[in-house]
Amino acid sequence: MKALVLIGGFGTRLRPVTYSVPKQLIPIAGKPMLYHVLDLLPPTVEEAVLATGYKADAIARYVTEHPPHLPVRTIVEAEPLGTGGAMRNAGAGMSDPFLLMNSDVIAGFDLASLLAQHAAHAGLGTMTLVEVDDPTPYGVAELDPDDRIRRFVEKPTREEAPSRWINAGLGVWRREALDRIPDRTPLSWEREVVPTLLADGVFAYRATGFWEDAGTPERLLRAQRYLFDAGRGGRRAVPKGTTGQGPVAIDPSAMVEGATFGGSVTVAPHAVVGAGAYLEDAIVMDGATIAPGASVLHSIVGPHARVRAGHRVSHQVLGEAAEA
Ligand code: GDD
Ligand code: MG
Repeated sequence: MKALVLIGGFGTRLRPVTYSVPKQLIPIAGKPMLYHVLDLLPPTVEEAVLATGYKADAIARYVTEHPPHLPVRTIVEAEPLGTGGAMRNAGAGMSDPFLLMNSDVIAGFDLASLLAQHAAHAGLGTMTLVEVDDPTPYGVAELDPDDRIRRFVEKPTREEAPSRWINAGLGVWRREALDRIPDRTPLSWEREVVPTLLADGVFAYRATGFWEDAGTPERLLRAQRYLFDAGRGGRRAVPKGTTGQGPVAIDPSAMVEGATFGGSVTVAPHAVVGAGAYLEDAIVMDGATIAPGASVLHSIVGPHARVRAGHRVSHQVLGEAAEA
């Protein structure tokens, strides 16, 4: 079995950091978002095909230098094709059925149960759904009593939303679903393709376990907390020479002596955190500097950015090489 991973979006809601780093390479709980997504794949998946576009070179380089636990292949779009166009473009040689995954989904699901449920019905596809309070930023499903999807509306208004069950961004589809997407045409899988497939039988798999779309700063930091809580965060205790509490994931090449942690923190390679600095619910990316006595709360500090001594950063996203 193969997985098709959509990884070509611009990450606009995570700017300015995504001006220089694709969102899938932002480290969460010690490793890039993409690697947590790949961790979800059941052992029956033999290859992940990454449909890349924006910052495709950075992703290709990273996966070459840090090989994931399964073989990956990247297929680059010259122009953004949207989620549907990207699937068609990368779909040659897909398995039947195949797994479809958004690359910003952080979840604690058992995808083997999704595959088993798909195998048990004769439908074209099975979408993983989760129930949320506010469905408006997502794709929303209306369900029949037998959990067949009757209607699917992408990013509806509150009034239009047919339920609170949303597309979790993970599904399994028969290969022929790809033939239903026009070739070389930019289009949205969720808006323009899925509604046309429902007549062929698309079923819901109601997932349990934590779930987050890490596409905004707030949700990304929440995803990090979920990962740490689930024990998927690498090193958890605060390192020698520091104080405070974990969970934290501090790269061994980072210098953090004398810092204090307030929990749920990632410090990436070659970052420097000065004595007396305080970090809580934060991500400090490659080569960034948090000067002595500064504090970083509920924030993402981009690569090579610098927070001045004694300065406080709260609920912010700093881009590459930014000064605060
Ligand atoms: N290759 C490629 N080309 N990938 C793309 C493109 C493109 O043109 N546009 C977006 N992607 C990728 C993104 O990188 C991301 O992994 C995935 O497709 C979904 O795009 P997002 O921008 O994250 O979409 P969303 O979060 O607003 O909504 C999607 O995810 C929700 C759940 O997380 C939809 O699938 C919703 O229906 C769903 O509820
Ligand atoms: Mg998303």
